[in-house]
Amino acid sequence: MSTSIIGAAVNRIDGPLKVSGAAQYAVDYTLENLAYGVGVPSTVANARVVRVDAGEAEHMPGVLAVLYHGNTPPLYRPAEQLEHSRAGEIRPPFEDDQVYYYGQFVALVIASTLEQAQAAADRVRVQYDVRKPVVLLSEAAKPQGPPRVHSSRGDAAGAFASAAVTIDETYTIPVEVHNPMEMHATIAHWQGDKLTLCVTTQGVMNYQKVLAEVMGVPLENVRVISPFCGSGFGGKLFPWPESMLAALGAQHVKRPVRVQVPRSMMFTTVGNRPLTRQRMRIGATADGKLVSIRHDVVQPMSMVDEYVEYCTGVTTMLYECPNVETRQDLVRLNVGTPTPMRGPGIVPGLFPLESALDELAVKLEMDPIALRLKNYAETDPSSNLPWSSKHLRECCQTGAERFGWAKRNPKIGSMRQGDEILGWGMSTATWHAGRGGATVRVRLNADGTARASCATQDIGTGTYTIFAQVVSDRTGIVLDKVQVVLGDSTLPPGPTSGGSTTTATVLPAIAKATDQAVQRLLEAALITPGSPFFTEDRASPPKLAMTNGWVHEVDKSWNSGVPFDEILIARRLAALEGEATTGPDMAAQEHYSFHSFGAQFMEVAWDPGIARLRVTRGLTVIDAGRIINRKAGSNQILGAVVMGIGMAMFEEAIYDPRTGKPINNNFADYLVATNADVPKLECIFVEYPDYHLNEYGARGIGEIGLAGVAPALTMAIHHATGVRVRTLPFRMEDVLGGERATIV
Ligand code: MOS
Repeated sequence: MSTSIIGAAVNRIDGPLKVSGAAQYAVDYTLENLAYGVGVPSTVANARVVRVDAGEAEHMPGVLAVLYHGNTPPLYRPAEQLEHSRAGEIRPPFEDDQVYYYGQFVALVIASTLEQAQAAADRVRVQYDVRKPVVLLSEAAKPQGPPRVHSSRGDAAGAFASAAVTIDETYTIPVEVHNPMEMHATIAHWQGDKLTLCVTTQGVMNYQKVLAEVMGVPLENVRVISPFCGSGFGGKLFPWPESMLAALGAQHVKRPVRVQVPRSMMFTTVGNRPLTRQRMRIGATADGKLVSIRHDVVQPMSMVDEYVEYCTGVTTMLYECPNVETRQDLVRLNVGTPTPMRGPGIVPGLFPLESALDELAVKLEMDPIALRLKNYAETDPSSNLPWSSKHLRECCQTGAERFGWAKRNPKIGSMRQGDEILGWGMSTATWHAGRGGATVRVRLNADGTARASCATQDIGTGTYTIFAQVVSDRTGIVLDKVQVVLGDSTLPPGPTSGGSTTTATVLPAIAKATDQAVQRLLEAALITPGSPFFTEDRASPPKLAMTNGWVHEVDKSWNSGVPFDEILIARRLAALEGEATTGPDMAAQEHYSFHSFGAQFMEVAWDPGIARLRVTRGLTVIDAGRIINRKAGSNQILGAVVMGIGMAMFEEAIYDPRTGKPINNNFADYLVATNADVPKLECIFVEYPDYHLNEYGARGIGEIGLAGVAPALTMAIHHATGVRVRTLPFRMEDVLGGERATIV
């Protein structure tokens, strides 16, 4: 059995399809008689719809229908907790006559062409009874009742009061928007009472469930197809209103209907990372031992659904500290419903935790890495379980060496390089490692190819490729003869691509299904006349194996045998299949705490003469178990670091408090990191397979690369300029001493 393919830097097997434009994304499906739905978004954030005047629009060329609350039957609600299904927003569109946030769908125009639908959508007049919206945290009603999240160990308040050194600061992270390159889109196609949906999603199976529930049809009547996804970052974990409207519209006009969310509505109706205001209180001894951590979070949710940004979980597990108390409160605002965004909870939770630790290091005049190592958690302090595998110390040491940390002069503004002042920062990164259930089918074909299939999907991370790698690893069939079929709800049940769990989840099922198919092939080799291994002697048949795609006797060289397809041909079989279902190891879950770890180092250069601050270096060292594809793996980490640069330096959705409109709802005004903002970035994996999680020892790597970037950057900015950025993103006013025009 060849093992070199696992861990190799393998090109994506779907790469050629993508760069040649052959990969079909949701809107690329051309269906006969396709009609186009264009949404009418509300232009107010808190109102009752008094009247929708669609008279003019309905008579425009090509218009097939204008749908809105009042002229369409209500959709059903998704069953959510009862059925473990989940929609982005539990309120289906057009459920009532209320407007809860700016950009909510209030009508859908369907026409024969996109242009006709757009033109008509502009002529739909909506009359509102407007109420004052509440879009700022400062204007929200105070949270009532007990906190939504509360945890406590020891006596955090008492230990804080008597601590030798304390930090008490508040940090704010604004609303961030996922903004994947491919905007949300659905083509809905009814054939009788059967619905096919071409979508872009991180979870075809959940999508199928939710749409069946919302449309009120049996599960098997709905098929969801999403073979390619132009990223999701959490925004495509669950179906959003546009897909329900496409299904409703297609039912109404009896034609397939496509609804695409324009970029402006990507800021309102498909989720966001909610604003968080986080107070962090840390108490320590004079030599840097943590004695108390208190972490209080206030976070908005929308008027129509609930979402907890679980920022405080990481605070309870990352460092050894006997007294920890956390609480989270939620308030309601007239904004679009928040949803998980890459590294949900942990990424926004680490920013205040790691920032406050740096403030403590400065106060103690202690090296930030030394402070972290001094409080290193040898076991998980939140559960008292041993870690399944933790090599964070090595991440810090390897990173420090590679980055040259020993040369860091902690004195603010002391590291000059020409006209610029360098700032160096570092942060711990972590992400929990999970594994769910999956069923995979593997087929060995008589034409010498193999095929693996599963109703999971590749959201741009490289899932197609790791499927092929594992099949190739266990059969020796070369990669380009392994076909992988994903992104279709009719395939064997697979996981949602979320929480960095897909790889750890599917690997064991691919392995088991492949082994089963191989086993069947080897049996066929023994019992099939015409096979070189055919034997009448059923009592002591030769032991066979499969290597390099050949079937051979175990104790002879592989090329003494025959290519596997010859066995199938001899038996006149088109293929032999294996199918396996695997799930998490429940015993291991009870005995170990599963997390990945990392250390991230960032450098900024501040040129006070021209007021320019740039990110100049980034190094990430990750302990995520075994890496299956070194190339796709580092791409994940480096892409996440770019997102972290965006989080620290640029990203912020800004709402007009009068209308509730995100005023920067476009790529000109909502800034993300571009090539010019991103320096050379490096990623190192310290590789210790985590066999408690699966037999390959692989944990997830989708989210952890983002985890420590923002605190490492604001720490670097502090090191260079002496200014502590506690409200993201960094603004030039912060270091120029101007007043900050942040609206929260
Ligand atoms: Mo991730 S936020 O679970 O896509």
